[in-house]
Amino acid sequence: MTIDDIIRQRRAVFPAQYIDQEIPESEIKQILENANWAPTHKKTQPWRFKVFRGPSLVRLGDFLADWYKENTPAEKFKEIKFNKTRKKAAKSACVIAICMKPDPSLPEWEELAATACAVQNMWLSCSARDIGCYWSSPKSIYDFGSFFPLDQGEKCIGFFYMGYYDGNLTSGERNPMSERVVWVDK
Ligand SMILES: Cc1cc2nc3c(=O)[nH]c(=O)nc-3n(C[C@H](O)[C@H](O)[C@H](O)COP(=O)(O)O)c2cc1C
Repeated sequence: MTIDDIIRQRRAVFPAQYIDQEIPESEIKQILENANWAPTHKKTQPWRFKVFRGPSLVRLGDFLADWYKENTPAEKFKEIKFNKTRKKAAKSACVIAICMKPDPSLPEWEELAATACAVQNMWLSCSARDIGCYWSSPKSIYDFGSFFPLDQGEKCIGFFYMGYYDGNLTSGERNPMSERVVWVDK
């Protein structure tokens, strides 16, 4: 596959499609290593990742589901979402908490942008290995520190679910790039 193919065939693949197959630790390490090669202003490398595997996935799912229940008004609470939230971590081979520790010498948006670049590297690395994955951003990320100790100033900005999967992926859809680009030639 060329880099163009990898970029355009990358899709969000959800745990419902994951199969019961471990991702070798060596593969996860390669994917993380690729994240570490993302661009970063002043080379601050603000990303911090917490890799959940094995029994810790059940604890993570319990935290996410319980947090949803405790922080959702009764009239908005959906039992289906609660159950799905509890199960989807355990259905994954691995979930990586996407965290960042912004360097105070830079505007925070730059550190967020660099961390997102690192996540895109992981996403493309997974796609190239036929590993399904997606970035999930529930409101519980703001309280992740109550479940897992974070450094001073460190924050969680999502969860990266990963698993080998069954079935086909959608071809995806995008509006034409021409609507979003202005060429300035003269
Ligand atoms: C920062 C970020 C946060 C996301 N959060 C969620 C999420 O909470 N739930 C979800 O279903 N998808 C989430 N996604 C995945 C998008 O839904 C998905 O990328 C989008 O639908 C485009 O589909 P594609 O990635 O297959 O092309 C997130 C993606 C990004 C970049």
